[in-house]
Amino acid sequence: MFRAKRILVTSALPYANGPLHIGHLAGAYISADIFVRFMRLCGKDVLYVGGSDEHGAAITIKALKEKRTPKDIVDQYHADFQEAFSKMRISFDIYHRTSEQIHHETSQEFFRELYKKGEFQELETEQYYDTEAKQFLADRYIKGTCPKCSNEDAYGDQCENCGSSLSPTELINPKSTISGSLPTLRKTKHWYLSLDKYEEWLKDYIENGQLDGKEHHDPAEWKNHVIGQCKSWLDGGLQPRSMTRDLDWGVDVPKEIPGSEGKKLYVWMDAPIGYISATKQWAIDNNKDWEPYWKDEETALIHFIGKDNIVFHCLTFPAILKAHGNYILPQNVPANQFLNLEGRKISTSKNWAVWVNDYLKDLEGKEDELRYHMIKIMPEQRDSEFTWKGFQESVNNELVNNLANFTNRVIVLTNKYYDGIVPEYDENQGISSCHDMDELSFHDSELISLFDGLSEMGDCVRKFDFRGALTAFMSVSSQGNQLLQFNEPWKHVEDDPELVKVVINIGLQYVAAISIACRPFLPNASDSLRVMLNLDPIKETGEWNEMMNQLAEGETPLLLAGHKIQQAKHLFDRIDDETIQGQIDKLMATSQTDTETKSPVKSTVQFDDFTKLDIRTATITAAEAHPNADKLLKLTVDLGFETRTVVSGIAEHYAPLDIIGKKVSLLANLAPRKIRGIESNGMILMAEDDEGKLAFISPENGMMNGASVR
Ligand code: 2FM
Ligand code: ZN
Repeated sequence: MFRAKRILVTSALPYANGPLHIGHLAGAYISADIFVRFMRLCGKDVLYVGGSDEHGAAITIKALKEKRTPKDIVDQYHADFQEAFSKMRISFDIYHRTSEQIHHETSQEFFRELYKKGEFQELETEQYYDTEAKQFLADRYIKGTCPKCSNEDAYGDQCENCGSSLSPTELINPKSTISGSLPTLRKTKHWYLSLDKYEEWLKDYIENGQLDGKEHHDPAEWKNHVIGQCKSWLDGGLQPRSMTRDLDWGVDVPKEIPGSEGKKLYVWMDAPIGYISATKQWAIDNNKDWEPYWKDEETALIHFIGKDNIVFHCLTFPAILKAHGNYILPQNVPANQFLNLEGRKISTSKNWAVWVNDYLKDLEGKEDELRYHMIKIMPEQRDSEFTWKGFQESVNNELVNNLANFTNRVIVLTNKYYDGIVPEYDENQGISSCHDMDELSFHDSELISLFDGLSEMGDCVRKFDFRGALTAFMSVSSQGNQLLQFNEPWKHVEDDPELVKVVINIGLQYVAAISIACRPFLPNASDSLRVMLNLDPIKETGEWNEMMNQLAEGETPLLLAGHKIQQAKHLFDRIDDETIQGQIDKLMATSQTDTETKSPVKSTVQFDDFTKLDIRTATITAAEAHPNADKLLKLTVDLGFETRTVVSGIAEHYAPLDIIGKKVSLLANLAPRKIRGIESNGMILMAEDDEGKLAFISPENGMMNGASVR
């Protein structure tokens, strides 16, 4: 794939409706940045485009809530994103925005072309309407229970929990997110893209990597979870999808199309076209041609996204590109899964997040540290978790104790023993290395190990295995540390100066290689090391290839003997417990329970209704698995005046042995019911939180069994 003449890389355009958090970084930005920096180091023609997604209900709902204009909202968050990306050194060639005119024009050109080609079906259908807000309810304007996974917060166009793409009428218990009211149905006309028509073509593309009978890519190079998600949609059958909305914010349906008044493009039609308009703007700014990046088959197009965007990038957008004609299709979509935070899902509305700009203020100068830890825990194949303690361990144990320790020792010793001059060494130093390569000189065998470690790193990056690449990179640093530990130059500078010269020379070659190899992961460290080594900053114009050639040929060293380096400066500092505790406390103190997503309080009941319930204190005296159901336990409860059998659905939360002796509250006058063959006489009361965690409602110790609860 990377024999392609040029590479076009995109990162998902984040909705400009809230600040950037670490979940965003883990999804689509750090991974893309590693990839593009590495490809530039390999001398490739790479273009990396991004921008803010400034349309759609995500924006207008936020504006409505805050009584501000959508323009005001997108201006604020676009600026927030620009700041966060630039400080985190995400190296976009252009960071654009979908509110720009060039984007509106580009999206309209697409719509016109599809319209002209008869790709749309114009359909009048009944859609949900909020009579209070006087608005049709599509996308995020409507919420309900996902028919596929039962998530109660699924949106009208998509369930973010299982990734399914939905239409509002598929939601169970739909509710307007503007007024909370039950929507009514009203007729409206829209333009539908016949995705069903492209079903077979998409299957061939996704499952076989074939485009119109020709080999396009190797599906074995795609992540399993990406192909898996696509297959499950394809197997479920694709339906026509409306590409327009009744909204007053977004890209207008072109005026000349009859019935266009009041209609905007669906945000998921215009947003991916944002990659194209960003490319066009970049070409204008740099006096280049945009078309080869999108139309030449020798371009490899790679979309970096989070898993909730898979359907749009692997099915809808390719179908739009195909329907338009003359565009290339993605070569790979290496989507990441989700990042959780301290045991919970990241949630903007509950403020359960690490906001990138807050981090950058609180831990100023520690951008590489965050990048490092995020790569280490990147949710490449499955969801993963960020914890502040884990972050601290990565920094202290790996960046400080391994990487900084090695580079610092080499630079300090060079300054101490040789006034900062790279020492000349004796080629025939016959000291056997720790790598068992007797036939080679010590110096050569060490540089071969270095070459192997770096090759491994490069192979991983090319496979989008960034965690693997980081591990390979850190192994190079560990090898360097071993070189020092094994040869202990500080002990032999007097008695074996020739040994020390060769060891320090090798160490310096390692540090020079590290200053290039760390570039995709740790761009700030790369800059600092280049200063310490007194070498030109990395421009990302083929330095990796040059280095690998030099190492392979073994003729020109990376650092020539006689070259003068600078003094050592701290590459990374330890992060103390206080800093970490401060961040944990901040997270706990500022997060809140989101009332919006709590199940609403049920309709009012009278006291008389309540008194009909006879709730009693009781003790569980025996518990065993239900013979016919995995989720159920058969419990014996003592009510003081009698003993009962109760069947309870708590087997996934409690082991029978752990609950014997537990004090509970029991709804004692619930009509008996046979549950999977066992009669249950009453119901144990349990509390259930947002994440489905259960807890007993237990009377305080000492309360007798059989007491009334009221
Ligand atoms: O999920 C999101 O945040 C979307 N705004 C991503 C859009 S990606 C692209 F297609 F623009
Ligand atoms: Zn779902």
